Amino acid sequence: MISRVLDSIIERTVIPSFSNLGYKLRRRLFNWPELNTYQLENKVVVLTGGTSGIGREAASIFAALGATLVIVGRNPEKTRLLVQELIKDSGNQSIHAVIGDLGEREDVQHIADNLASRFPVINVLIHNAGALFNSRKLASNGTDLSVELMVATPFLLTGKLLPQLNAASQNNEPARVLTMSSGGMYTEALTVDGIEMSDAEYQGAKQYARAKRAQVVLNEMWAERFPANEIIFHALHPGWVETPGIAEALPGFTGWLDKFGLLRTPHQGADTLVWLSADEIPGRSNGAFWHDRAIRRINMSRKTRDADTPQTRNALWQWCEEHTQWQFPT
Ligand SMILES: NC(=O)c1ccc[n+]([C@@H]2O[C@H](COP(=O)([O-])OP(=O)(O)OC[C@H]3O[C@@H](n4cnc5c(N)ncnc54)[C@H](OP(=O)(O)O)[C@@H]3O)[C@@H](O)[C@H]2O)c1
Repeated sequence: MISRVLDSIIERTVIPSFSNLGYKLRRRLFNWPELNTYQLENKVVVLTGGTSGIGREAASIFAALGATLVIVGRNPEKTRLLVQELIKDSGNQSIHAVIGDLGEREDVQHIADNLASRFPVINVLIHNAGALFNSRKLASNGTDLSVELMVATPFLLTGKLLPQLNAASQNNEPARVLTMSSGGMYTEALTVDGIEMSDAEYQGAKQYARAKRAQVVLNEMWAERFPANEIIFHALHPGWVETPGIAEALPGFTGWLDKFGLLRTPHQGADTLVWLSADEIPGRSNGAFWHDRAIRRINMSRKTRDADTPQTRNALWQWCEEHTQWQFPT
């Protein structure tokens, strides 16, 4: 009881919660099982963004836990070398690569087809790839790249892989779809008209937060479509983690956190992601937003709460369907 109260006090104070202080404190308060006590043998885990930062760390933990691990990477050489290294370090021979750029629609279609043909059962699908672009970048279909990469692509990949995810559920253990969002999403309200900021108003951190907010809402909407827990959907945020991605996107902020020793290590940043893949507790709920192995609220302000209406949610889902030309089977 006291632990829960302390945890919620930490959560309200953001810096302790997102920094490594939150990780260390909660780990101790709740006596977390070590990640190496889990086992994922016979589970197929598909991981995007496994070649760097949080995903890279998660990949090596998944490999060590015996998962059949599929790394989706855009750089063939980097991904091939990583697979080799993971096999060597873990002794797990079942590590695979699927190559493609998740910001390019044609590649995403190929990735989905490749995954579907090689892995008829997928137990855990992880949408971890993401980036914050300080200057606007566009995907080749003209969509803002952060929106394409973090909203449209995960939507399409999940949709196209529903048969493989359903196949896992038929073995009595629902598949899990996990989406790596960001605590940055607390700062931006759900918007569909403004999901892609105009060139004039563009600010990388805001654009990123809007995409991350959409991810969290879509996570809930997917879960509503699978109410019997046939497939389990969860989103999470990792806190502030020392990775190449954050160092490049937010050098000043990262430098400040680093100066005070507050950044999480990649291992600490990957902790809840791996735990959500392996522990039985996340299998008891659907559509939740997690941080440090606990469900967290998705709003911290009235601005974001008020904007999150059923109409806007429906418009977001419709935007995704139209934009990806994939429709939820009715
Ligand atoms: N670090 C943090 O503090 C923090 C905080 C909140 C949320 N997050 C989220 O955590 C996730 C991982 O971030 P990170 O900090 O670990 O960043 P990172 O070190 O930059 O790793 C990002 C990963 O995404 C991949 N990726 C990016 N664009 C891609 C594309 N177009 N196609 C395919 N793969 C692509 C990268 O591939 P390459 O190796 O080829 O570049 C890399 O594997 C992201 O979703 C991020 O938004 C991070």
